[in-house]
Amino acid sequence: MEKIAIYPGSFDPVTNGHIDIIKRGCRLFDKVIVAVLMNSQKNHLFSMEERLYMLKKSLRDMPNIELDSFGGLLVDYAEKKNANAVLRGMRVLSDFDYEFQMALMNRKLNRNIQTVFLMSGLKWIFTSSSIIKEAARFGGDINNMVPAIVEEKLKEKFRAMG
Ligand code: PNS
Repeated sequence: MEKIAIYPGSFDPVTNGHIDIIKRGCRLFDKVIVAVLMNSQKNHLFSMEERLYMLKKSLRDMPNIELDSFGGLLVDYAEKKNANAVLRGMRVLSDFDYEFQMALMNRKLNRNIQTVFLMSGLKWIFTSSSIIKEAARFGGDINNMVPAIVEEKLKEKFRAMG
């Protein structure tokens, strides 16, 4: 049976930390489905199309990856895609509460789906989409924290916003 994992998130925008988890996930699973959440309550900087475009460009050379978007419950989506695992990256302590809560809720909703955590690479422990956006907004150097296409799009976006 093919081992399929869903790697869900907002990806607003994708960072090198995400890419690192995806690459490592690809060594554990036959296929990793990178799934961007639709209809989230969060106010996103980038539209769904922009987020998918940046992911597509950044994941270009990786063979066992599928790119998709999803709405509703993650566990329902995972079942529909024949996945039995959810892949999540865990950074410093602050992630733990939220991730633990979500993993337990998902397990309660569907016991067939396991959440698999990978520790974030040391280089990416202190970065996040939000903090990178904050730095980029005020002209900070975000080189090496995001794929080249994301750096370009962030600059474009903040230039356009003035
Ligand atoms: O990158 P994020 O924003 O931390 O990702 C959060 C995500 C997309 C994994 C989470 O919000 C999610 O799975 N949403 C779908 C609804 C759902 O199933 N929630 C968890 C159980 S209530």
